[in-house]
Amino acid sequence: VGRGAELTRKLLAFARRQRLSPAAIAPAALLADLGRMLERTLGEAVQVRISCDDRVPAVYADAVQLENALLNLALNARDAMPRGGRLAISASEEELGQRPEGSELPAGRYIRFTVADTGLGMAPDVLARAFEPFFTTKDAGKGSGLGLSMVYGFVKQSGGHLVADSRLGYGTTIDLILPLAANPASPPGMTTGAGLPRGSGTVLVVEDEAEVRDVAVAFLRGFGYDVLEAGDAEQALRHLHDSAPIALLFSDVVLGDGASGIELALSARRLRPGLPVLLTSGHELGNTTPHAFTLLRKPYRREELAAAAQAALHGNS
Ligand SMILES: Nc1ncnc2c1ncn2[C@@H]1O[C@H](COP(=O)(O)OP(=O)(O)OP(=O)(O)O)[C@@H](O)[C@H]1O
Ligand SMILES: [Mg+2]
Repeated sequence: VGRGAELTRKLLAFARRQRLSPAAIAPAALLADLGRMLERTLGEAVQVRISCDDRVPAVYADAVQLENALLNLALNARDAMPRGGRLAISASEEELGQRPEGSELPAGRYIRFTVADTGLGMAPDVLARAFEPFFTTKDAGKGSGLGLSMVYGFVKQSGGHLVADSRLGYGTTIDLILPLAANPASPPGMTTGAGLPRGSGTVLVVEDEAEVRDVAVAFLRGFGYDVLEAGDAEQALRHLHDSAPIALLFSDVVLGDGASGIELALSARRLRPGLPVLLTSGHELGNTTPHAFTLLRKPYRREELAAAAQAALHGNS
């Protein structure tokens, strides 16, 4: 519940100025994670069924926002099943020959996520308005009426399409149709959750918050990198003055005590010309920082860090 609330809070906060960081995401891994979370969150009365073949290819979308969208749909489903019921979430690959009704999608291959419940359903007049911002049938203080409008906005911004079907008394099915990552239009070098690229070489991780640093270090070691750690710019500079080989500098932008990851990166480049640099920040700075260092937005998923580190190391960031 805590995680759900946190995701929802972030989505609300950023709804107006959302910067999507799409990447290739393996639907099976994403849904398995989501299923575990939902089983803990939705209570015993709701039976959660996840179905997704491991071979369903990667979708191209912002992982955090996609998870958030599916979570919003699942919470709506729970609310529509006050006495329990079944929630089925699935993903499959689909070839769209002609445009589905009302969409502007070009023909091609897509991933269709389906969230179906056996709840109260919606009357036609409710369904017609359900996607309007602030439209809610819930009691004051219960629903903001923003869930579905955010899902809709996310899907459209991601180059996808949404189909909703509901019958009063029978239940509701919502489909999110999103682009396939293997589309030639999406950037190369992206990876799936299942087949993360192995890393090699040493990454210098600079992060002032110990807990966040521990997570980054654990992820990077998991990918196969050796890791040097620093809790502040001074410590990082000591490593850079040493002769230890460093393949990549991965630093937070705001380092505490007024120190800046951007300044650190510039000093690192003076000490070690050409050193690959990847910066990370929770602030909205865009995809690059001043001086054109690549930026990984926080919070990031394991897959996103893997892809960003590879891209920085191989100079195609
Ligand atoms: N799965 C569903 N079954 C039945 N009705 C639904 C379902 N999903 C949405 N609705 C209807 O659409 C309305 C709008 O949904 P939306 O998610 O946008 O807002 P909300 O759930 O009311 O509030 P919020 O999500 O912001 O907390 C709901 O109030 C409900 O009437
Ligand atoms: Mg909702």
